[in-house]
Amino acid sequence: MSVTVVDHPLAEHLLVSLRDRTTPPPVFRTLAKRLALALALEAIRDLPTVEVAIQTPLESTKGRTLGDLVAVPILRAGLGMLEAVTELFPEVAVGYIGLERDEASLQPQSYYRKLPPVDERHVLVLDPMLATGGSGSAACTAIKEAGTPASIRFVCVVAAPEGVTRLQVDHPDIPIFTAALDRELNDHGYILPGLGDFGDRLFGTE
Ligand code: PRP
Ligand code: URA
Repeated sequence: MSVTVVDHPLAEHLLVSLRDRTTPPPVFRTLAKRLALALALEAIRDLPTVEVAIQTPLESTKGRTLGDLVAVPILRAGLGMLEAVTELFPEVAVGYIGLERDEASLQPQSYYRKLPPVDERHVLVLDPMLATGGSGSAACTAIKEAGTPASIRFVCVVAAPEGVTRLQVDHPDIPIFTAALDRELNDHGYILPGLGDFGDRLFGTE
């Protein structure tokens, strides 16, 4: 299973401001969307394409188009990455998985699930933070329970080593795309150095 750290200079540049505690929610939202765009582009780099015949104003030619894509943001924080994907791929089908970590046990509690058909489609799971990996793993399990996708890719902003290991063990078939692989988790399950609580910073609920 692979972990790709998207080390494009623009991604690194955007991540600095996302990490900065003084970045306010309106700016945080804008930058998160831009970074998600860079991450999504990397995540779909090796997606298979389909040959199509087209007619330009001058002659006929061939091109290649993407197959069926599904985006699944993990609520809430994953919503901060969704718009980038829907703008890049307006035809994308969108499913939602609502998970919230219990603060004491750090176990994800499921509160919502609505998925489109996933059979033979390529699925991008969107969640900015891969901390213990409990939420990411539960979301990937839910998608596999819903059908048999052609592929599942996990796209996040910051990953902790603990979360990467958890996904590798539970879902060795799912590659991870992240802007940063951080050092460790603290005693409360927050990523260090991290960027704090992504959902709170995105929605101003701190
Ligand atoms: C955050 C984040 C992930 C999860 C990661 O969500 O968006 O879903 O924590 O932690 P884990 O890898 O240890 O499971 P949170 O539960 O805080 O909910 P929110 O998105 O509603 O803020
Ligand atoms: N969820 C967050 O939003 N941030 C972390 O550091 C860990 C989990």
